[in-house]
Amino acid sequence: MSEAQLWDAVDAYFTELLSPPDEVLTAALADSDAAGLPAINVAPNQGKLLQLLAQLQGARRVLEIGTLGGYSTIWLGRALPADGRLVTLEYDAAHAEVARGNLARAGLDKITEVRVGPALESLPALADEHPEPFDLVFIDADKVNNARYIEWALRLTRPGSLIVLDNVVRGGRVTDPDGGDPSVEGTRAALELIAGHPKLSGTAIQTVGSKGYDGFALARVLD
Ligand code: SAH
Ligand code: DHB
Ligand code: MG
Repeated sequence: MSEAQLWDAVDAYFTELLSPPDEVLTAALADSDAAGLPAINVAPNQGKLLQLLAQLQGARRVLEIGTLGGYSTIWLGRALPADGRLVTLEYDAAHAEVARGNLARAGLDKITEVRVGPALESLPALADEHPEPFDLVFIDADKVNNARYIEWALRLTRPGSLIVLDNVVRGGRVTDPDGGDPSVEGTRAALELIAGHPKLSGTAIQTVGSKGYDGFALARVLD
Protein backbone atom coordinates (compact mmCIF):
# COMPACT_ATOMS: atom_id res chain seq x y z
CA MET A 1 0.00 0.00 0.00
CA SER A 2 1.36 3.44 -0.89
CA GLU A 3 1.47 6.17 1.74
CA ALA A 4 -1.42 7.98 0.04
CA GLN A 5 -3.52 4.79 0.01
CA LEU A 6 -2.83 4.36 3.72
CA TRP A 7 -3.92 7.96 4.44
CA ASP A 8 -7.09 7.32 2.40
CA ALA A 9 -7.86 4.11 4.28
CA VAL A 10 -7.43 5.75 7.68
CA ASP A 11 -9.54 8.74 6.62
CA ALA A 12 -12.26 6.36 5.39
CA TYR A 13 -12.21 4.56 8.74
CA PHE A 14 -12.36 7.78 10.80
CA THR A 15 -15.04 9.30 8.56
CA GLU A 16 -17.29 6.24 8.58
CA LEU A 17 -17.01 6.07 12.36
CA LEU A 18 -17.09 9.72 13.43
CA SER A 19 -18.42 11.93 10.64
CA PRO A 20 -20.42 9.65 8.33
CA PRO A 21 -21.99 11.44 5.38
CA ASP A 22 -25.71 12.11 5.50
CA GLU A 23 -27.97 12.63 2.49
CA VAL A 24 -27.58 16.40 2.51
CA LEU A 25 -23.77 16.35 2.50
CA THR A 26 -23.65 13.58 -0.10
CA ALA A 27 -26.07 15.47 -2.35
CA ALA A 28 -24.05 18.68 -1.92
CA LEU A 29 -20.93 16.96 -3.25
CA ALA A 30 -22.88 15.19 -6.02
CA ASP A 31 -24.43 18.47 -7.22
CA SER A 32 -21.04 20.21 -7.00
CA ASP A 33 -19.49 17.47 -9.10
CA ALA A 34 -22.36 17.51 -11.62
CA ALA A 35 -21.89 21.27 -12.04
CA GLY A 36 -18.19 20.76 -12.76
CA LEU A 37 -16.86 22.25 -9.53
CA PRO A 38 -13.39 21.00 -8.50
CA ALA A 39 -13.34 18.57 -5.54
CA ILE A 40 -11.31 20.93 -3.34
CA ASN A 41 -13.83 21.01 -0.50
CA VAL A 42 -12.64 20.06 2.98
CA ALA A 43 -12.72 16.34 3.82
CA PRO A 44 -15.65 15.12 5.98
CA ASN A 45 -13.52 14.78 9.10
CA GLN A 46 -12.16 18.29 8.51
CA GLY A 47 -15.70 19.58 8.08
CA LYS A 48 -16.60 17.97 11.40
CA LEU A 49 -13.57 19.68 12.96
CA LEU A 50 -14.83 23.05 11.68
CA GLN A 51 -18.23 22.29 13.18
CA LEU A 52 -16.69 21.34 16.54
CA LEU A 53 -14.52 24.46 16.56
CA ALA A 54 -17.55 26.65 15.87
CA GLN A 55 -19.45 24.92 18.68
CA LEU A 56 -16.50 25.27 21.08
CA GLN A 57 -16.49 28.97 20.22
CA GLY A 58 -20.19 29.15 21.04
CA ALA A 59 -20.31 30.78 17.62
CA ARG A 60 -23.40 32.75 16.63
CA ARG A 61 -21.77 34.48 13.66
CA VAL A 62 -19.44 32.88 11.15
CA LEU A 63 -17.67 34.39 8.15
CA GLU A 64 -16.33 32.14 5.39
CA ILE A 65 -14.10 33.33 2.55
CA GLY A 66 -14.29 30.81 -0.32
CA THR A 67 -17.64 29.01 -0.62
CA LEU A 68 -17.23 26.65 -3.60
CA GLY A 69 -20.39 24.45 -3.47
CA GLY A 70 -21.10 25.20 0.19
CA TYR A 71 -19.83 21.90 1.62
CA SER A 72 -17.76 23.45 4.43
CA THR A 73 -20.55 26.03 4.78
CA ILE A 74 -23.02 23.26 5.68
CA TRP A 75 -20.72 21.90 8.39
CA LEU A 76 -20.23 25.39 9.84
CA GLY A 77 -23.88 26.38 9.45
CA ARG A 78 -25.00 23.33 11.40
CA ALA A 79 -23.02 24.59 14.40
CA LEU A 80 -25.12 27.75 14.59
CA PRO A 81 -28.27 28.44 16.61
CA ALA A 82 -31.55 29.20 14.81
CA ASP A 83 -30.86 32.94 15.07
CA GLY A 84 -27.23 32.56 13.95
CA ARG A 85 -25.73 34.12 10.85
CA LEU A 86 -23.20 32.86 8.35
CA VAL A 87 -21.87 35.05 5.55
CA THR A 88 -19.84 33.26 2.88
CA LEU A 89 -17.95 35.03 0.10
CA GLU A 90 -17.49 33.53 -3.36
CA TYR A 91 -15.89 34.96 -6.48
CA ASP A 92 -17.58 32.67 -9.00
CA ALA A 93 -21.32 33.21 -9.59
CA ALA A 94 -21.74 29.62 -10.83
CA HIS A 95 -20.18 28.25 -7.63
CA ALA A 96 -22.42 30.50 -5.55
CA GLU A 97 -25.51 29.23 -7.35
CA VAL A 98 -24.61 25.61 -6.60
CA ALA A 99 -23.90 26.56 -2.99
CA ARG A 100 -27.28 28.30 -2.59
CA GLY A 101 -29.04 25.14 -3.76
CA ASN A 102 -27.03 22.98 -1.38
CA LEU A 103 -27.64 25.32 1.55
CA ALA A 104 -31.39 25.41 0.84
CA ARG A 105 -31.54 21.60 0.81
CA ALA A 106 -29.65 21.64 4.12
CA GLY A 107 -32.33 23.91 5.58
CA LEU A 108 -29.70 26.59 6.15
CA ASP A 109 -30.90 29.19 3.66
CA LYS A 110 -32.46 31.35 6.41
CA ILE A 111 -29.19 31.82 8.30
CA THR A 112 -26.64 31.71 5.46
CA GLU A 113 -25.92 34.35 2.88
CA VAL A 114 -23.69 33.75 -0.18
CA ARG A 115 -22.19 36.99 -1.48
CA VAL A 116 -20.75 36.95 -4.99
CA GLY A 117 -17.63 38.86 -5.99
CA PRO A 118 -13.94 39.14 -5.25
CA ALA A 119 -13.64 38.84 -1.47
CA LEU A 120 -11.40 41.92 -1.35
CA GLU A 121 -14.44 43.89 -2.61
CA SER A 122 -17.05 42.07 -0.52
CA LEU A 123 -15.08 42.49 2.73
CA PRO A 124 -15.00 46.33 2.79
CA ALA A 125 -18.70 46.36 1.82
CA LEU A 126 -19.43 43.99 4.70
CA ALA A 127 -17.37 46.11 7.11
CA ASP A 128 -19.35 49.22 6.04
CA GLU A 129 -22.48 47.49 7.32
CA HIS A 130 -20.89 47.37 10.79
CA PRO A 131 -21.98 43.80 11.43
CA GLU A 132 -21.78 42.26 14.87
CA PRO A 133 -18.31 40.76 15.23
CA PHE A 134 -17.83 37.29 13.78
CA ASP A 135 -16.92 34.55 16.29
CA LEU A 136 -15.15 32.39 13.71
CA VAL A 137 -13.67 33.17 10.30
CA PHE A 138 -12.79 30.34 7.89
CA ILE A 139 -10.38 31.50 5.17
CA ASP A 140 -10.33 29.13 2.18
CA ALA A 141 -10.20 31.12 -1.07
CA ASP A 142 -7.36 32.36 -3.30
CA LYS A 143 -4.23 31.76 -1.26
CA VAL A 144 -2.37 34.72 -2.77
CA ASN A 145 -4.54 37.07 -0.70
CA ASN A 146 -4.31 35.12 2.57
CA ALA A 147 -2.51 37.92 4.47
CA ARG A 148 -5.13 40.47 3.35
CA TYR A 149 -7.87 38.08 4.50
CA ILE A 150 -6.25 37.78 7.94
CA GLU A 151 -6.21 41.60 8.16
CA TRP A 152 -9.91 41.78 7.25
CA ALA A 153 -10.69 38.98 9.68
CA LEU A 154 -9.06 41.04 12.43
CA ARG A 155 -11.29 44.00 11.60
CA LEU A 156 -14.45 41.90 11.62
CA THR A 157 -13.90 39.90 14.82
CA ARG A 158 -13.60 40.46 18.59
CA PRO A 159 -11.18 39.32 21.28
CA GLY A 160 -11.71 35.57 21.63
CA SER A 161 -12.70 35.02 18.00
CA LEU A 162 -11.05 32.21 16.07
CA ILE A 163 -9.51 32.45 12.59
CA VAL A 164 -8.96 29.23 10.63
CA LEU A 165 -6.74 29.33 7.54
CA ASP A 166 -6.91 26.32 5.21
CA ASN A 167 -4.25 24.75 2.98
CA VAL A 168 -1.13 26.14 4.65
CA VAL A 169 1.11 23.16 3.76
CA ARG A 170 0.31 22.27 0.12
CA GLY A 171 2.42 19.15 -0.03
CA GLY A 172 5.23 20.85 1.91
CA ARG A 173 5.66 23.75 -0.54
CA VAL A 174 5.09 26.21 2.33
CA THR A 175 8.76 25.96 3.28
CA ASP A 176 9.93 27.02 -0.19
CA PRO A 177 9.92 30.83 -0.22
CA ASP A 178 11.76 31.08 -3.55
CA GLY A 179 9.63 28.64 -5.56
CA GLY A 180 7.86 31.49 -7.33
CA ASP A 181 4.41 30.21 -6.26
CA PRO A 182 2.22 33.22 -5.38
CA SER A 183 -0.06 30.95 -3.31
CA VAL A 184 2.88 29.91 -1.14
CA GLU A 185 3.98 33.54 -0.85
CA GLY A 186 0.48 34.58 0.22
CA THR A 187 0.28 31.83 2.81
CA ARG A 188 3.75 32.57 4.18
CA ALA A 189 2.82 36.26 4.47
CA ALA A 190 -0.33 35.27 6.39
CA LEU A 191 1.62 33.01 8.75
CA GLU A 192 4.22 35.73 9.34
CA LEU A 193 1.42 38.21 10.06
CA ILE A 194 -0.08 35.82 12.62
CA ALA A 195 3.35 35.22 14.16
CA GLY A 196 4.17 38.91 14.55
CA HIS A 197 0.78 40.39 15.36
CA PRO A 198 0.25 41.54 18.96
CA LYS A 199 -3.45 40.69 18.75
CA LEU A 200 -3.05 37.14 17.43
CA SER A 201 -1.89 33.89 18.97
CA GLY A 202 -1.59 31.10 16.45
CA THR A 203 -0.30 27.73 15.43
CA ALA A 204 -0.22 25.57 12.30
CA ILE A 205 -0.85 21.85 11.95
CA GLN A 206 0.08 19.45 9.14
CA THR A 207 -2.57 16.97 7.99
CA VAL A 208 -2.63 13.90 5.76
CA GLY A 209 -5.73 12.15 4.48
CA SER A 210 -8.15 11.89 1.58
CA LYS A 211 -7.19 15.42 0.46
CA GLY A 212 -3.47 14.64 0.41
CA TYR A 213 -0.77 16.29 2.50
CA ASP A 214 -1.81 19.75 3.65
CA GLY A 215 -2.68 21.58 6.85
CA PHE A 216 -4.34 24.50 8.53
CA ALA A 217 -3.47 27.38 10.82
CA LEU A 218 -5.51 28.49 13.82
CA ALA A 219 -5.29 31.97 15.32
CA ARG A 220 -7.10 33.35 18.35
CA VAL A 221 -7.82 37.06 18.50
CA LEU A 222 -6.47 38.57 21.73
CA ASP A 223 -7.51 41.65 23.75
N1 SAH B 1 -14.56 26.19 1.54
C1 SAH B 1 -14.89 25.29 0.45
C2 SAH B 1 -13.80 25.20 -0.58
C3 SAH B 1 -13.43 26.54 -1.18
S1 SAH B 1 -12.44 26.34 -2.66
C4 SAH B 1 -15.14 23.88 1.04
O1 SAH B 1 -14.26 23.42 1.79
O2 SAH B 1 -16.16 23.26 0.74
C5 SAH B 1 -12.01 28.00 -2.95
C6 SAH B 1 -13.15 28.88 -3.48
O3 SAH B 1 -12.68 30.24 -3.39
C7 SAH B 1 -13.52 28.62 -4.94
O4 SAH B 1 -14.90 28.42 -5.08
C8 SAH B 1 -13.09 29.90 -5.65
O5 SAH B 1 -13.94 30.27 -6.73
C9 SAH B 1 -13.17 30.91 -4.53
N2 SAH B 1 -12.34 32.11 -4.75
C10 SAH B 1 -11.18 32.21 -5.43
N3 SAH B 1 -10.75 33.46 -5.44
C11 SAH B 1 -11.64 34.19 -4.75
C12 SAH B 1 -11.76 35.57 -4.42
N4 SAH B 1 -10.85 36.46 -4.80
N5 SAH B 1 -12.82 35.97 -3.68
C13 SAH B 1 -13.75 35.07 -3.27
N6 SAH B 1 -13.69 33.76 -3.56
C14 SAH B 1 -12.66 33.33 -4.29
C1 DHB C 1 -7.16 24.17 -3.59
C2 DHB C 1 -7.91 25.04 -2.82
C3 DHB C 1 -8.40 24.62 -1.60
O1 DHB C 1 -9.12 25.44 -0.81
C4 DHB C 1 -8.17 23.32 -1.17
O2 DHB C 1 -8.67 22.94 0.02
C5 DHB C 1 -7.43 22.47 -1.94
C6 DHB C 1 -6.93 22.89 -3.15
C7 DHB C 1 -6.63 24.61 -4.90
O3 DHB C 1 -6.86 25.77 -5.29
O4 DHB C 1 -5.98 23.81 -5.56
MG1 MG D 1 -9.25 24.59 1.28
